[in-house]
Amino acid sequence: MQRDPAALRAALEDLEQRHLRRVRRVPPRDAVNFCSNDYLGLSAHPEVVQAFADAVMKYGVGSGASHLVTGHSSAHQMLEEAVAAFTGREKALVFSTGYMANMGVIGALADQKAAIVSDKLNHASLIDGSRLSGAKVSRYRHADSDHATEQLAAIDPEVKSRLLVTDGVFSMDGDLAPLPELALAARRANAWLVVDDAHAFGVVGATGRGSCEHFGLSSDDVPVLVGTFGKAFGTFGAFVAGDADLIDYLVQKARPYIYTTALPPAVVAATFAALEVAQRDSWRRERVLAHARRVHGVLGLPGTSVSPIVPIILRDEARALAASRELEARGFLVSAIRPPTVPAGTSRLRVTLSATHEESQVDALITAIAEVRQTDVRQGESRPLETDE
Ligand SMILES: Cc1ncc(COP(=O)(O)O)c(C=O)c1O
Repeated sequence: MQRDPAALRAALEDLEQRHLRRVRRVPPRDAVNFCSNDYLGLSAHPEVVQAFADAVMKYGVGSGASHLVTGHSSAHQMLEEAVAAFTGREKALVFSTGYMANMGVIGALADQKAAIVSDKLNHASLIDGSRLSGAKVSRYRHADSDHATEQLAAIDPEVKSRLLVTDGVFSMDGDLAPLPELALAARRANAWLVVDDAHAFGVVGATGRGSCEHFGLSSDDVPVLVGTFGKAFGTFGAFVAGDADLIDYLVQKARPYIYTTALPPAVVAATFAALEVAQRDSWRRERVLAHARRVHGVLGLPGTSVSPIVPIILRDEARALAASRELEARGFLVSAIRPPTVPAGTSRLRVTLSATHEESQVDALITAIAEVRQTDVRQGESRPLETDE
């Protein structure tokens, strides 16, 4: 971008014209939020809040340093042990954010000589981590394990560092990656399988351990597991879990782990409490997934509902924005998701459910979406709101 106010303004106006300009605003408090990632409703849970408050009194607010200096507290240590046990891995390493965890793990395992095979709909942090590593990246068709296998087979035999990278549950589509097939393909190609389970961790699987649990996969099948705490656990931060040597290697090499201030211990203590509540209150998981299935089923959306994320594809940016505004006028917050977050022509409403939603609120949302569909048709659009891709 040129250093020129007119050029900046022109770029912003261009985004505006194409309905792609992003604006931030404080969500109205009286609307029901159907677009947060607080799937289990733990962000304001009394035990989580209390753990945070107690830890602030004990540790103060900031961690004061990076992990390798003096920022690594007993709270961090406890959480890492709990996450390792919960995920069935030898060790876990707590990162400040999921974005950094992905940048860190990919950057540590891949360099310019490496090859990365990546799902086309992977999260931006996996894409950015792959780009930053300088590795050769090839992208396979979404959730197409045959295509991934082909791309792995096409890697130059001289290339030793190989990664197969995927979301576990895709953040904008809510569907599961075909992990058993990907695990097999990665094993055959001697590639690390890196699974970002941000949207599955805490919610998916019989006991909320994520997509590996859902598919019955071990740490041998999925050697590099990433999860975040800002979603189902309602707090902030992330982790990478795996074998002890892998985690020790990340401590040496993962720059977004090394060169940043450690998370505040109080945030970490709150996450520890959230992990306990999530394990105890299995009803939260059952409830949020039942809500999602209900929205999905009553609206007759394609595919099956396996996560708290229910996308309603509208294709066109302007229509997605209009539908989001219409829903807000009816008291529901559902954000419109547009490119570049999703591919061009797949703009959508991304409905997310939470265990804190009442059934009556979910039903009211379904009614509101149905009304918004009618409005869309009445306004003379060429077709009703699309519900399939
Ligand atoms: C799949 C996925 N991975 C990683 C992240 C990043 O996590 P964090 O918000 O902790 O940076 C997100 C969303 O924020 C995500 O959806």
